[in-house]
Amino acid sequence: MTHSAYVFDAYGTLFDVHSAVARHADLVGPAAARVSEMWRAKQLEYTWTRSGMGRYRDFWALTEEALDFALAAVPGASRQARARLLEAYQTLDCFGEVSAVLKALKARGARLAILSNGTPAMLAAAARSAGIADLLDDIFSVDTVKVFKTSPKTYALVTQAYGIEPSAVSFQSSNRWDIAGAAAFGFACRWINRSGQPDEYGDLAPVATLGDLSGLV
Ligand code: LAC
Repeated sequence: MTHSAYVFDAYGTLFDVHSAVARHADLVGPAAARVSEMWRAKQLEYTWTRSGMGRYRDFWALTEEALDFALAAVPGASRQARARLLEAYQTLDCFGEVSAVLKALKARGARLAILSNGTPAMLAAAARSAGIADLLDDIFSVDTVKVFKTSPKTYALVTQAYGIEPSAVSFQSSNRWDIAGAAAFGFACRWINRSGQPDEYGDLAPVATLGDLSGLV
């Protein structure tokens, strides 16, 4: 099935969130992998709690707060790395197949966009440093509506901008909770299950599950 728009989650889907800590693992210390996992888990938790409360703070602020928590909570983690980790988060590596897949989809005439919790500044920096900015037609940030995924208001940014039905959008995310939210909204969802996670949210299923983005083309 072809879609008029292919919309991608950013963090974990296009950009490797663990590449920031990986770059500075020596500085973070032996528990670097645990710091990276906790940083990501707390960052996401803060989006859900703040959306539930209606107390929005932007994703960059939550990324900083989550890193501070992770560095304080993980025994042996060094705070020396803080500034460098935050800098690295703005220039995360993108996954190996991303650029080729976006080029192939673009060659077919598809509209390509990011829809992310990230701030416009974070997303622009990440897309630029990964060399994919020119392939994207749009970068939609939830900062416009001041609520995080999985609020329907976030997914509606795409359908409102393009004047299309949700079912015309192929939405890709490696985050199963994001796929649940996007499926509830009516997008045709592809779950990019990079790490072989078991399925969840059974009533809010993707149309397909792929190991990486290559299966889109
Ligand atoms: C995003 C996070 C959820 O990019 O990965 O929206």
